[in-house]
Amino acid sequence: MEYPPYFNPEMELLSRSEIEALQLRRLRETVERCTQSPFYKRRFAEMKLDPESIRSLDDVRRLPFTTKQDLRDNYPFGFAAVPLEKCIRLHSSSGTTGTPIVVLHTRKDIDEWANAMARCMWMVGLRPTDIFQNTSGYGMFTGGLGMQYGAERVGMLTVPAGAGNTKRQIKFIRDFGTTAIHAIPSYAARLYQVMQEEGVDPRRDTKLTTLLIGAEPHTEEQRRRIEEMLGVKAYNSFGMTEMCGPGVAFECKEQKGMHVWEDNYILEIIDPDTLEPVKEGDIGEMVLTTLNREAMPLLRYRTHDLTRIIPGPCACGRQHKRVDRMKGRSDDMIILKGVNIFPMQIEQVLLQYKELAPQYLITLETVGSNDDMTVEVELNNMFTDDFGALEALRKSIAHSLKDEILVTPKIKLVPNGTLPKTEGKAVRVKDLRKHY
Ligand code: COA
Ligand code: AMP
Ligand code: ZN
Repeated sequence: MEYPPYFNPEMELLSRSEIEALQLRRLRETVERCTQSPFYKRRFAEMKLDPESIRSLDDVRRLPFTTKQDLRDNYPFGFAAVPLEKCIRLHSSSGTTGTPIVVLHTRKDIDEWANAMARCMWMVGLRPTDIFQNTSGYGMFTGGLGMQYGAERVGMLTVPAGAGNTKRQIKFIRDFGTTAIHAIPSYAARLYQVMQEEGVDPRRDTKLTTLLIGAEPHTEEQRRRIEEMLGVKAYNSFGMTEMCGPGVAFECKEQKGMHVWEDNYILEIIDPDTLEPVKEGDIGEMVLTTLNREAMPLLRYRTHDLTRIIPGPCACGRQHKRVDRMKGRSDDMIILKGVNIFPMQIEQVLLQYKELAPQYLITLETVGSNDDMTVEVELNNMFTDDFGALEALRKSIAHSLKDEILVTPKIKLVPNGTLPKTEGKAVRVKDLRKHY
């Protein structure tokens, strides 16, 4: 059967002036909707901002920024712009030490999210004839259900394998004839390693052609290496829980930057220090305003992701602006195995142990095809050198940390005063991975 080339030609093929006209209309609706959110209601009153005064797209700069801290401070429902009975799902980030955030969705939000994901998947050539396997964690991770709903909307046969159990993933890929897979870049490398161990040649023994990657930073070289290893085309995808999840920005077949769907988001790139816009093409922090969300619209959300707009038109003909692959973060968030972690979460767990001094060092490194975290922490002077007691302490810390950050760190207990310091200031994180 012959399928049409676009999933949603009406939105994908808008001209610049049509995009901007739609954005203005949706921005005004969004600001109006925000007056129902306790957080924005307060913020607008503090700023004496009259929603009616938003009359042009440039007026977006008169709106307040929103930060992750705002979401934390108003956990769980302080941003809801509709009654909870209108919401059908929430997603939440990891963390129990005061760091979690919640994002709410109405039925329409989930529906629009599925449409956005389907549009991305169709854009890179996926069709109902494909068999799609998702290796993201389901549950609270948006890469699970987000990809799932999108793939079902395309009409693919879906294999919701979830994270881990790599041998079983490979069996599914072979038995079901999986043609397309979603995996974060580090896990794609792990898949290949286990295929090699199992004597599976992905080109000879599988039908894989397409890989959707994202959720963690990676270089162009890493992408090309993964494509080479698995014999696939790999497309970069940007998403974040606060913006729904995956489907915010996606590469087209040109593989030259990710189109931000500007019917759904207003994109700004700002200098993270001055908060002023950077010149088009310069690197800065990506700021996003949702335009099509009912339950929890977010204005000028500071992603802390550093990237740049790729100037000029894309050869694919779509006029939605493109952002380059992520270049870093303007905060200290770590992404490990597709999980976001703040050093503060680790610190707060360690502080609960009276056997420990307050010095620690987090090292991230790639060992074989696995990304690992080691937490070295100093013992306080009083503590024992009894091996059994130290081993029990190590296990207890590993367990408590896993509860907090969801991944399992290695723990090294070291004598007091042995961890490195620079100019009197403790070095907290050493990232030896080559992702940027
Ligand atoms: N996606 C899929 N599988 C992953 C993964 C990821 N991002 N990160 C690790 N795994 C696999 C590992 O390879 C391992 O399987 P294997 O030994 O059969 O190869 C298994 O998950 C356990 O990983 P391990 O590193 O031993 O455990 P952990 O306790 O440190 O990590 C996980 C726990 C895997 C549950 C956690 O990292 C996770 O849920 N990651 C998925 C995050 C995700 O989906 N994010 C969404 C992005 S859109
Ligand atoms: P989450 O809310 O768990 O989906 O994580 C969102 C974060 O993951 C973003 O803010 C980015 O830091 C990171 N991220 C998502 N997609 C990508 C990508 N394609 N490249 C680099 N980092 C990404
Ligand atoms: Zn394009």
